[in-house]
Amino acid sequence: MSIKPRKVGVLGAGNVGSHVALQIAVQGLADDIVFFDTNNGKAEGEAMDLRDAVSYMPHHVTCKAVDGDELGDCDILVVAIGKTRQPGQTRLDMLADSVEECKKLIKVIQHSGFDGIIISITNPCDVITEYLARKLNWPKNHIIGSGTALDSARLQMQLSEQLNVNRRSVTAYVLGEHGDSSMVPWSHVTVGGKPIRELLEENPDKYHIDSFEEVVYKVHRGGYFENANKGCTEFGVSSSTAELIRAIFHNEHKILPCSTWLNGQYGIHDTFASVPVKLGADGVEDVIEIHLTEEEQKELDNSIDILQQHVKKALA
Ligand code: LAC
Repeated sequence: MSIKPRKVGVLGAGNVGSHVALQIAVQGLADDIVFFDTNNGKAEGEAMDLRDAVSYMPHHVTCKAVDGDELGDCDILVVAIGKTRQPGQTRLDMLADSVEECKKLIKVIQHSGFDGIIISITNPCDVITEYLARKLNWPKNHIIGSGTALDSARLQMQLSEQLNVNRRSVTAYVLGEHGDSSMVPWSHVTVGGKPIRELLEENPDKYHIDSFEEVVYKVHRGGYFENANKGCTEFGVSSSTAELIRAIFHNEHKILPCSTWLNGQYGIHDTFASVPVKLGADGVEDVIEIHLTEEEQKELDNSIDILQQHVKKALA
């Protein structure tokens, strides 16, 4: 018996897909990376560019462009298809185009015989993840959206920079939509284990941040700012996705915020949205339910309403 190399299929060889592949390669998360893109030339180009880099990487990795049939034995498929968000466009505005792209992709996935774990990034992330889950009739623990793993990183960046505390000492999650309606359960944000409200109230001379509303605003605007200034976003989203891949391949049982199927948790039924999720080799092992205040629950419910309306549109 020989050991099966860990293989990831990256669907979509654009800015996001190529950066996910780079993160996987640099971090040594998989042995084989395959790109699939309807523009095969682009996939070939990205694959070859990545192979050029392997001489200077700490781990060996193979990378090539493939057609759909070669996706069957992947352990994980990363869905990063779709257009780049245009200036001023919300993620939800991207729905119709993304659904059209997904229709083609669904056939490719079904035809390939793939039966592993799907991580979907394509925007609007939660809606597209749910669309794929429903259309593919995928096991719910084997499909997640990258969701607010990225928004949470943006929140941690804001808090860390404003408080001058290392990010790893800040526990802070963004919940709900990966997008403008996401919310922060401030009652559960801690710094070194101390609730942030207490830290700020007890140490006004040492620790100061913008109002909570302003922090959330900056988190919401992060992607818009980056898009407007560099034409896309790629580093943050690819690093967040790599973190999910690591948790799965290394069976870390790690709790990360990402878009998962909610079936009663948080009072939400049959909807994909981001909450803290325990991830391991079998995908979603558990959904962590943090107790929200009444106000926080309202904010989350509002985000879920928006997602559900858009899922209806996608499925119509
Ligand atoms: C962002 C994209 C990935 O927020 O939605 O950067």
